[in-house]
Amino acid sequence: MKKQMKGIILAGGTATRLFPLTHTTSKQLLPVYDKQMIFYPLNTLVKAGIKDVLIIIAPRDAGQFLNLLGPIFDRHEVRLEFKVQSAPRGLAEAFVLGENFIDNDNVTMILGDNIFEDDFSEIIKNFQSGGHVFAKKVPDPERYGIVEFDKSGKAVRIVEKPKKWISDYAIPGLYIFDHRVCEVAKKSKPSDRGEIEITDLMNFYLKKSELQVSQVEGEWLDAGTFDTLLEASRIVKEKNLYENFDPKIEAAIAEFNEEQKVLAKKQLQ
Ligand code: TTP
Repeated sequence: MKKQMKGIILAGGTATRLFPLTHTTSKQLLPVYDKQMIFYPLNTLVKAGIKDVLIIIAPRDAGQFLNLLGPIFDRHEVRLEFKVQSAPRGLAEAFVLGENFIDNDNVTMILGDNIFEDDFSEIIKNFQSGGHVFAKKVPDPERYGIVEFDKSGKAVRIVEKPKKWISDYAIPGLYIFDHRVCEVAKKSKPSDRGEIEITDLMNFYLKKSELQVSQVEGEWLDAGTFDTLLEASRIVKEKNLYENFDPKIEAAIAEFNEEQKVLAKKQLQ
């Protein structure tokens, strides 16, 4: 039987770099131009034809996520599930918390604060097995998971936040794996910083020569600091990315807005 592609958005975390904004709400519910941030990663998944999406959230923010997203997607062929991550134990925990949801299918996981200009639909739709991640040249490689290529352009090593320079290619927050990733994540031990690391999962596939790495051509925004959050809004507006939404998401947001307007009017009467 052909495997389905499921989607996970990792939208927990503590977002300390955005204090005090995130004292009152989740980073992924902050605005990026005219929409809450979460709609951008959701769009990346829905555009690629993914119909089942698990959103992993922090305990404090569950109510707000449900208020916004709970009612609006049911009627638009996108099934959303929510799961609380009790503490931010690392990106790889998405595949531990998502094990039952993923089942025997494939999964595309995207970080809730990552916004992409590229359309990854073809890669996601054509994925069969193994792992597929991406690479983007950055000026500050010590801040990211970094991939090193050999002379032929083949990925040979992936290191989390390397202290010694190995390459300028960061791995953005979009990862496609087959279901074996859940077992690997469950066996993964926390690193020195106390997190289970997604680089361990990528290295599992890399060692088996089952990891593909493609270049990200367009913008990749990681909206986790004041400057990058501002930059995200600016680029989304300048490049019209806010108009680039899947019709199902557009329709769901429009319907939600209408319902909220009616509710607001009723409350005034
Ligand atoms: P980060 O930006 O690395 O962490 P953070 O959001 O907690 O922010 P800060 O470093 O400012 O404290 O996380 C990247 C994305 O992954 C972000 O959308 C939050 C999410 N995340 C989780 O949902 N759970 C986790 O355990 C971790 C580490 C991150």
